[in-house]
Amino acid sequence: MSSATKTQVGIIGGGPSGLLLSQLLHLRGIETIVLEKHSREYVLGRIRAGVLEHGFAALMREAQAGDRMDREGQIHEGFYIAHDGIRQRVDLKALTGGNTVIVYGQTELTRDLYEGRDRLGGVVIHNAEDVQPHDIDTSRPYVTYRQGDETARIDCNFVIGCDGFHGVSRQSIPKDGIRTFERVYPFGWLGVLSRARPVSPELIYAKHERGFALCSLRSPTLSRYYIQVPLTDTVDDWSDEQFFDELRRRLPGDVSEAMITGPSIEKSIAPLRSFVVEPMRYGNLFLAGDAAHIVPPTGARGLNSAASDIYYLYHALVDHYTKRDDSGLENYSRRALTRVWKGQRFSWWMTTLLHRFPDNSPFDQRLQETDLAYLFSSQRALASLAENYVGLPF
Ligand code: FAD
Ligand code: PHB
Repeated sequence: MSSATKTQVGIIGGGPSGLLLSQLLHLRGIETIVLEKHSREYVLGRIRAGVLEHGFAALMREAQAGDRMDREGQIHEGFYIAHDGIRQRVDLKALTGGNTVIVYGQTELTRDLYEGRDRLGGVVIHNAEDVQPHDIDTSRPYVTYRQGDETARIDCNFVIGCDGFHGVSRQSIPKDGIRTFERVYPFGWLGVLSRARPVSPELIYAKHERGFALCSLRSPTLSRYYIQVPLTDTVDDWSDEQFFDELRRRLPGDVSEAMITGPSIEKSIAPLRSFVVEPMRYGNLFLAGDAAHIVPPTGARGLNSAASDIYYLYHALVDHYTKRDDSGLENYSRRALTRVWKGQRFSWWMTTLLHRFPDNSPFDQRLQETDLAYLFSSQRALASLAENYVGLPF
């Protein structure tokens, strides 16, 4: 059995990028269909980002999905960098002339976007198997997929690839149509979500000779902690007790003494990678978010970089449909990449500053120590960090 439908914009991937774009376009009268490989429960089971910049928050409000974020999200005016047994604060608000970030989990944000899609009657097709874009270099692209025994076809004007790093969209571009830039780091982050009061009301990024650690949170009763681990480690190598023992070792004494631990409710390992594809367009296929670029999570840039892609793409598509103006679509890749690369630079720098690199020479180590010493000796260096962390303007 097979069926065929038409829409204006076919979106592959029902993560934050795809849902946000679909919701924003719907509100401007532009039709979309979102195809998601997994079930909604699966998508909402993934624990990922926690820190949002205000540009993202503004888009969530414009998408009529920001009410709960505004009620439950926590405004953070600063964070700490711990090293050599001490903690030094980065006062984001003072250093940026009033800017801050919002701590609100990606899982909750995705849930809010799904609710927004339901409220407006948006079409999100879950468990879509074998999704495949076709004829993307023509003016009549289409997407096919399978659900059980049924195959279906969606004809559209544009296909938007929001299907993350492992998605099919980028892979459907001919090899000579794109160029990739990549760095793989020799470690991963082991993350634990724990039902316990967070050890600190503000995030602590810790540099330690045993490896990096991060104390983050989701709410006053939900903690999110990470430690740097070798790529060969698996989740089964780490009991809750071993995890918290190692985390404590990497934190200043006063912090580890104050740590309250609770049972882990999620535990996962994420490899660290920097990746960019250029351009972010091939014919009438446009890539956005993790489908086009990945950063190591140290600078909290990944989801925020996805949001700026969606901002540019949303306005470009609205201009196309409402003003017959294609300049936004033509400039999309260039504009998005300009900001993406700044996020790449910052994430690479934060990662290099704070992690233990197994192959670092004594010279590399001295440079790393000096980078940190310089940071806290210069208001200008701190202001640069803060400006990047709260998010450069779109
Ligand atoms: P995804 O969230 O990957 O969504 C893609 C969707 O497409 C998925 O639902 C997937 O199931 C679907 N899909 C895949 N293949 C197909 C297919 N073939 N057909 C149909 N659908 C498909 N970012 C920040 O900004 N701040 C942070 O604090 C932060 N912390 C992080 C911590 C960790 C541990 C990790 C791993 C990431 C973190 N990030 C952070 C990054 C952030 O989570 C990602 O950048 C974000 O998920 C990107 O959203 P996306 O919608 O582009 O891609
Ligand atoms: C998180 O809370 O998951 C988190 C926060 C900050 C980061 C990365 C992850 O830089």
